[in-house]
Amino acid sequence: MSPQGEHAPKNPGLRVFFGDLRKMTSGEVADGEVSLIVTSPPYFNAPFDYPDLFPNYDDYLRLIRSFASQSKRVLGAGRICAVVTDDMLVKESNSSRGRKFPLVADTTRIFLEEGLLYRDKITWVKPAGYTRISRRSGVVLQHPYPMYFYPVESSKIDTYRLNDEGWNLTVWNITNVLPMAGRIEEGIAAFPEEIPRRLIKLFTLVGETVLDPFLGSGTTLKVARELGRKGIGYEVDLELKDVIKKKLGLDYDRWTGEEFVIEEREGARRLRKSLQTKVQQQRSVAK
Ligand SMILES: C[S@@+](CC[C@H](N)C(=O)[O-])C[C@H]1O[C@@H](n2cnc3c(N)ncnc32)[C@H](O)[C@@H]1O
Repeated sequence: MSPQGEHAPKNPGLRVFFGDLRKMTSGEVADGEVSLIVTSPPYFNAPFDYPDLFPNYDDYLRLIRSFASQSKRVLGAGRICAVVTDDMLVKESNSSRGRKFPLVADTTRIFLEEGLLYRDKITWVKPAGYTRISRRSGVVLQHPYPMYFYPVESSKIDTYRLNDEGWNLTVWNITNVLPMAGRIEEGIAAFPEEIPRRLIKLFTLVGETVLDPFLGSGTTLKVARELGRKGIGYEVDLELKDVIKKKLGLDYDRWTGEEFVIEEREGARRLRKSLQTKVQQQRSVAK
């Protein structure tokens, strides 16, 4: 699809590709171009978000492997991929019993196998029974800049918020996106803006590029743009185009003057309505 606007901008601040991230090419996202990945893949066939999206768990793990190898390719040396995921209980098709799938362990293992290093695990919204001061606190307090060492004033980290909100802890207490009727992210399993906000501030400089290969409603790019970073998103579901445009404030037809590109690629599908229908069917059976 042609870019929005009259001419394709040479150096757009925002690039959104509708397609399967497995087909991402170096023409779209160059090797080493990305400074941070913040993303949340589907939690396999999560019953209330992605029922039957994948034919089986092996198929899901193949997607995660491709995600890991693409991450390795596009990330700059020493840069970070932050994956929001969790283990998931899914009912097996020929049984009434649920089986818990170890997404966290398998995702970690696959990333290691694809050549990335394991850095840290942060638990989001669980009782703060275990906390420890990590490298993210001591060094950042002495030197409050992303990646610890680049003293770029515009990227300086707010150490008051870092302390007060506990960014340095391995437990992050952040309110989830509340399930209010009519919200823009309905049926998308969006994460709250505070997750990409902390990660982008901690691990990138102003002007650097953040990638979300499972873009969903566009939360990561919205925050990246607010923080003066460039953003690239990949999303397989064409039915999310209006949601993404709305969230990013691109939902009007006239050319905004801002440099952004929205393109369709091979593998783009229409998913949202059929997934929501299945979720509704499950809910009515469960009642
Ligand atoms: C958990 S949601 C992401 C939500 C997002 N973090 C937000 O805040 O809105 C995962 C997204 O990955 C998309 N997805 C699934 N398979 C994909 C693939 N192969 N390539 C690109 N996107 C994919 C789904 O359509 C879904 O929108």
